Parts: sequence; structure tokens; C-alpha cells
Amino acid sequence: MYTLKKQVGHARRGEFKTVHGTVQTPAFMNVGTVAAIKGGLSSYDLKDIRTQVELCNTYHLHLRPGDKLIHELGGLHKFMGWDRPILTDSGGFQVFSLAKLRKIKEEGVHFSSHIDGRKIFMGPEESMQIQSNLASTIAMAFDECIQLPAEYDYVKQSCDRTYRWLVRCKAEMDRLNQLPDRNNPHQMLFGINQGGTYEDIRIENARLNAQLDLDGHAIGGLAVGEPKEEMYHIISVVDEYLPRDKPRYLMGVGTPGNIIEGVARGIDLFDCVMPSRNARHGHLFTWEGIRNLNNAKYEKDLLPIDPQCDCPVCSRHSRAYIRHLLRAGETLGQRLTVMHNLYFYNRLLERIREALENDTFEQFRAQYVDVLD
Ligand code: GUN
Ligand code: ZN
Repeated sequence: MYTLKKQVGHARRGEFKTVHGTVQTPAFMNVGTVAAIKGGLSSYDLKDIRTQVELCNTYHLHLRPGDKLIHELGGLHKFMGWDRPILTDSGGFQVFSLAKLRKIKEEGVHFSSHIDGRKIFMGPEESMQIQSNLASTIAMAFDECIQLPAEYDYVKQSCDRTYRWLVRCKAEMDRLNQLPDRNNPHQMLFGINQGGTYEDIRIENARLNAQLDLDGHAIGGLAVGEPKEEMYHIISVVDEYLPRDKPRYLMGVGTPGNIIEGVARGIDLFDCVMPSRNARHGHLFTWEGIRNLNNAKYEKDLLPIDPQCDCPVCSRHSRAYIRHLLRAGETLGQRLTVMHNLYFYNRLLERIREALENDTFEQFRAQYVDVLD
């Protein structure tokens, strides 16, 4: 259940109650695709870096180790030793970005596994069944994430189908939550708005989604190569049609600057691989912008990654040491940089929440939106 605590323009400071605890929003969800954060972070590390929600992927966990196994072992929370909220993405996006030889039909998508080539079918019912077996806190609807640029007619047809899939997801999730053997019988379902960069398709799709009794609404199909101004425009357009009493989630976005602008347009939840992916390449987020630790000038630098950061890494280690670890290919180097970057993102959202509470969000936005873009 979502409670709006304060609104500043379109920006929302809220609380989202789940069976696995309350999420303070706006919030960033840390991506742990295969029930692990890349870079070697454990679920107890996640607590140290102030993570509220962990995100896992239906597609990957279905292929390996298999959702039936996770169901048998008591669900994802028990399996990975994490007791706070978990959101699972539906497989929609991953099937379209990773799987080979896909064929989209009304009933769902036929594709072959990127691991061993085996043929798999996933439709809305299968995606709900897998996510129900995983027993995540929040399941995402099975959708088609359209690759841009796309023709108007294709986008229209695809969105109509994604909506029909959403209706099927809702019916299947309601059925599954009634089964006696569920590890989370209170699993929530979020719909996903699609429509490429076509305003009228986005609006019609948002209106339809809003009429279904869902637990939250995502905006998908953005940050797929369109200019950021176009993405901001679509968020503003869709914002009007989404129910005020449900959380809104902008999928796969983005830079700290994108997140600040998303919050300003009414978004409550974000996720992105950027902080962990950039970290593994030595690109660190700081309150003064990106710092590239591969740069030779850090060879003898004893300062922490970001002197303004109080993460477990910055309070102990120097740029020189971490640069050495990365160059030596030590896994510890990746672990430390990922911890710092995810902490930075979690702190960014904390600072945004504080700014909303203290009526200083516009100053915060002006101070950081360009520095952190
Ligand atoms: N992750 C980023 N974008 C999307 C999207 O459009 N759909 C889904 N399911 N996941 C996403
Ligand atoms: Zn740090």
C-alpha cells in the first residue's frame, strides 16, 4: 500500500508498505540479476550500503537454477538470505534483449536460451507462475519492450497486445495467490506502460492500465536510445494518467541526473545496472561527478574515492589501493567499487527524500542535475 506523505510540484515523498517491510520513496532498487549483485556483494553487504529493495530477473532464474527449485527451497528470500523487498522483472525485457530466435505471438514468446540454446516458451501465465515460484515481493507484468526506432503501427499493435497480456497476468496472479503452497501469497503485481515515443499510444495504454486494480505502475521502454528530453517528456505525459495512490516505477533508468529529473516528474522507484556496471570498469560516482580510477593520476593518491562519502569503502581505502586492485584484476577491486557506487545511489535517493521533506528539492536539483548527469 502506498501512502503519499508530501508532494512538491510533481515530486512525491511516500511510503510503500509490503509484506517484507516498508520502502521509503523515492527509492533506488539494486540490480541483482541472478540473485547476486555482480561484483561479489552478499545480502548482508546490501544492508551495509543501505539497500531497500533488491531486483532479480525472472528470465535468468528460470533458466538457472530454475524457479521450481527455488520454490521447493522456500522462495527467493530464504534462498538468498535477504528479508527485505525483492522485485522480479518479468522476463519481458530480457527475452527481447538476450534470447535468440524469438518469435512473438498472441499467446507469448518462443525463444531459445542464451545459456544452452534450449527452446523455451514464455507468456503472461508462465511469467506469473515463475515469479510466484520465486515468491518475490513484487512481480512485474509480462510485456514487450519495443526497440526504438519503431513504426507507429507496430508500436500500437504491440501495446494493445501488452495490455491483453497484462489482463492475463492479473487473472493468473490472482489465481496463484490463492494456491495453498505459495511462499508469498501476498505477491503484488505492477503493470508496465509502453508506447515508444508516441504520446497518444502512451496515454491510451496508461489509461487502460490505470483501470485495472494493480499494486503499482511502471513506465517501460525508455532509455533505449532516445534523447533524454524525449524520455522526460514521455514521463510527464504519462504521469497525469497514472493513479496517485499507487507507486510509479521508471524501469532501467538511469544516471543520477535522470533520477533527479524522474523524481521531479513524479517517479517513486528506479533501477539501473549503471552504478554496478560502471564500478566494475573503474568509473566511480562522486558528489563532484564521475571519477575514472584507471587514470594514472590516482597511482599515489591516498584520498578515498569520494572524500564526501561515508560508505564502508571510503572510510577505509584509498584511490591508489583500489586502482591497484582493479589493474591487478583482483575481484576485491570490483567488490569495493560496486559497494561505493551502489551506496552513492542509495544515498542520492536518501538525499532526495530529505530535500523533499525540507522543501529544498529545487535547490538540490539545481545543484546536482548537471554535475551528476
Ligand atoms: N527494464 C527496462 N525497461 C524495461 C521494460 O520496458 N520492460 C521490462 N519488463 N523491463 C524493463
Ligand atoms: Zn564511498
